[in-house]
Amino acid sequence: MINIGILGAGRIGKIHAAAVKNYNNVNLKSIADPYLDEKWAKDLGIENLYKNVEDIINDESIDAVYICTPTDTHSDLIIKCALKGKAIFCEKPVDLDINKILEVKKVLDKTKVLFQIGFNRRFDSNFKKLKQLVDNGELGNLITLKIVSRDPSAPPLEYVEASGGLFLDMTIHDFDILRFISNEEVEELNVNAGNFVSNFGDKDIDTAMIHLKLKSGAFALIENCRVTTYGYDQRVEVFGTESNIKFENIFEDCVVKTGANGTSYGKPLDFFLERYSKAYENETFAFVQSLKNNTKSVVGIDDALESALLAVAAKKSYDENRVVKINEIRQEFNIGEK
Ligand SMILES: NC(=O)c1ccc[n+]([C@@H]2O[C@H](COP(=O)([O-])OP(=O)(O)OC[C@H]3O[C@@H](n4cnc5c(N)ncnc54)[C@H](O)[C@@H]3O)[C@@H](O)[C@H]2O)c1
Repeated sequence: MINIGILGAGRIGKIHAAAVKNYNNVNLKSIADPYLDEKWAKDLGIENLYKNVEDIINDESIDAVYICTPTDTHSDLIIKCALKGKAIFCEKPVDLDINKILEVKKVLDKTKVLFQIGFNRRFDSNFKKLKQLVDNGELGNLITLKIVSRDPSAPPLEYVEASGGLFLDMTIHDFDILRFISNEEVEELNVNAGNFVSNFGDKDIDTAMIHLKLKSGAFALIENCRVTTYGYDQRVEVFGTESNIKFENIFEDCVVKTGANGTSYGKPLDFFLERYSKAYENETFAFVQSLKNNTKSVVGIDDALESALLAVAAKKSYDENRVVKINEIRQEFNIGEK
C-alpha cells in the first residue's frame, strides 16, 4: 500500500485529496495545514491531521507527498521531501525564481525521486485528443495555434502578491499546453498586457495577449484575462496544412433554447474545479502509475522549467515593451540553448 501525505489543504489541496481518496490501493494517510479544516479532513477519513508539514516530511511511512501550499514554499518543500526519498507531486509553479528551479532540478536529478508537476490540462480529454490528432499527422504542419484562457473571477490581492503574477501563476498552464500540443519549443515572444477588470493596481496585470514564434516558424497566440462575466473560458484552435482542429468550452448543460429573440445556451462551466475535475483524477492516476511501475514522470521538472522560462520571458517583454528571444533568458541563467 502506498501512503500519501498532502501538504497544504486550500483550494487545490482539497481537490487532490479527493482524487487520491478516490483511488484504490493508495492510502491518504496524512494532511498538514496550519489552518486545516478538521471537519472536512475527518469526514474524508484521513488518519493523521497536522498543522506542521514537518510531521509528514519526517514520517518514514509516507511514500509520496502532494505539495499544495502557496507557491513561495514549493522549492524548499520539494528539496526537503526529495532528500527524504519521497515521491513528489507538486503544484505549479516550482518557484518564482529560475535559479531556485535549477537548484530543485539538481536535487531531483541526484536523488532520482519521482517528480510530477501539476500541469493538469495535459490530462483533460479535449487537450489529449487534440494532441493525438496533431501527433497522428492529421493537422499536417502547424501554421497557427491559438489558446484562449480566461478565469471567471480574480483571486484575492494577497494571493496575487505571492503568486508571481499573471505569467508565472496563470499563463504558465498555457505555455505548457502550447509545448504539449505543438511538440515544439518557443523561439521568441512579444506581450501586450494591461489592467482592465481587477483591483490589482500596480501589483499585477490582469489581461495579456502573448504573440509567440515557434522554432518551426509557426505562430501562436495566448489570450489571458482574470475575469469574465460568463464562467471559465478555455478554448484552443490549431490550424495546419491539412486541417483545422479545435475545441470550445464545456457548458453547464446541453439545453439550447430557440425563440423569437434568437438562440441561447447555458453558461460555460464555472472554473477549474468544475472544468478539470476529471483531469485532476487522471493526473493522480498517472502519478500513482509512475510510482507503482517505477517509470519516468509523464510531466516532470524539465517541463516545469521550460514553462517558467517562457513566463520570465513574457514578464521581460511586458516590462521592456519588446520582443524577447527565449535563448536570451537561457543565457541569463546559464542554461544551454535550445
Ligand atoms: N493546477 C491547478 O489547477 C491549480 C489551481 C489552483 C492553485 N494551484 C496552485 O496551488 C498552490 C496553492 O494554491 P491554492 O489556490 O490552493 O491556495 P490556497 O490559498 O487556497 O491554499 C493554500 C493552503 O496552504 C496552506 N499553507 C500555507 N502555508 C503553509 C505551510 N507552510 N504548510 C502547510 N500549509 C500551508 C494555507 O493555509 C492554505 O490552506 C499554488 O501554488 C497555486 O499556483 C494550481
